[in-house]
Amino acid sequence: MSNSLRGFKDWLEGPARDVASEHPRINLVRGAVARLTTPLLPDDYLHLVNPLWSARELRGRIVNVRKETDDSVTLTIKTGWGFASTYEAGQYVGIGLLIDGRWTWRSYSLTSVPDMGHGRGPREVSITVKAMAEGFLSSHLVTGVTPGTVVRLQAPAGDFTLPDPLPPKVLFLTAGSGITPVMAMLRTLARRGIPAGTDIVAVHSAPDADSTLFREELEAFDAAHDNVRILLRYTRESGRLTPDNIGSVVPDWTERQTWICGPGAFLNDLEKAWEGRGIARNLHQERFTVERADVSASGGEVVFAKSGKIAEVDGATTLLEAGERAGAAMPFGCRMGICQTCVVQLIDGQTRDLRSGQLHTEGERIQTCIAVAVGDCTLDV
Ligand SMILES: Cc1cc2nc3c(=O)[nH]c(=O)nc-3n(C[C@H](O)[C@H](O)[C@H](O)COP(=O)(O)OP(=O)(O)OC[C@H]3O[C@@H](n4cnc5c(N)ncnc54)[C@H](O)[C@@H]3O)c2cc1C
Ligand code: FES
Repeated sequence: MSNSLRGFKDWLEGPARDVASEHPRINLVRGAVARLTTPLLPDDYLHLVNPLWSARELRGRIVNVRKETDDSVTLTIKTGWGFASTYEAGQYVGIGLLIDGRWTWRSYSLTSVPDMGHGRGPREVSITVKAMAEGFLSSHLVTGVTPGTVVRLQAPAGDFTLPDPLPPKVLFLTAGSGITPVMAMLRTLARRGIPAGTDIVAVHSAPDADSTLFREELEAFDAAHDNVRILLRYTRESGRLTPDNIGSVVPDWTERQTWICGPGAFLNDLEKAWEGRGIARNLHQERFTVERADVSASGGEVVFAKSGKIAEVDGATTLLEAGERAGAAMPFGCRMGICQTCVVQLIDGQTRDLRSGQLHTEGERIQTCIAVAVGDCTLDV
């Protein structure tokens, strides 16, 4: 391709370059639509044809809401143009909902089986959400969302996935809603077929039978596979799974590649056990919440320089949340301090890392999803 042709292609693609897409050509078409319809917004035209089409962002529509337990639902989402259905089991997706005029974003593990036909399969994904006490978006998703709702999506991401080929001995340890990424893995393994030489043990903890997500499916999965053992542990009867009793539940746990997901305290305990045995390399974990250190920060006035927005924040609100509320164009991914997508430069002032308590000063690059303001500060975003 000549330089001028490449330059023209780059220009055409420009408006959609940052949109995650499974085929590079899709972004070329998106960008071309954007260019052709400028100065009018291309989304205005696309939206008229189909609300799931957007030249600038990934969208989806909730097509089904299924109650799983008293406080959890599975949402099936029909995905729009450009959403890569060839994600990996165990990955999560960012989902944004318009509530009271503001887009609110959270991450949820996909519980559906990825399309293994290279993008030609059904364009639906699912997530399973457990309402957290006083949790803003999870409560809304569990009790207030109806089929037909259009949502914004981010491309699937995350490295809590299984290797191919599978190791000979696999262990899954999950608790509560932490079963979700592992459910996607089990469903995907069932669809693909579990190799005869692989031995899988899964221990899932929940308070009791009624509050156990996917209970019947897990029991059926256990019954259907000779080389899979699924143990449901009801903590009100049997107590929690801890480093002290894991040996009696899974005697060969130290020999297994292990994937864990659940509440922070559960993960911390297991992490210590694996570290104590010097086998931390065998452990793969997904955290749903940020482990906050005992951090004190005063908050202050935050200036989002490029967006021209200003917010007054307390010492507990992350700069990402503050920026979003103020209407600044904040980049983000996991919202958990993992992916680095939210990193911006601190032009002036000081911030503190919520996990480590580390103080950051002028000129440093900070992760806004886990940073709080220590006095007035200015961000280059
Ligand atoms: C990679 C990843 C995958 C995930 N997958 C899933 C999944 O599959 N299923 C699932 O259910 N969740 C999942 N989560 C968690 C999910 O992203 C949300 O964090 C969760 O649903 C809570 O969101 P929320 O808006 O309801 O809670 P928020 O409103 O953000 O509140 C979070 C917590 O803070 C507490 N809180 C809120 N306000 C206050 C206050 N003023 N004072 C004190 N405490 C307060 C709430 O009680 C709650 O416990 C995942 C998270 C990540 C990072
Ligand atoms: S959004 Fe992933 S590190 Fe901040």
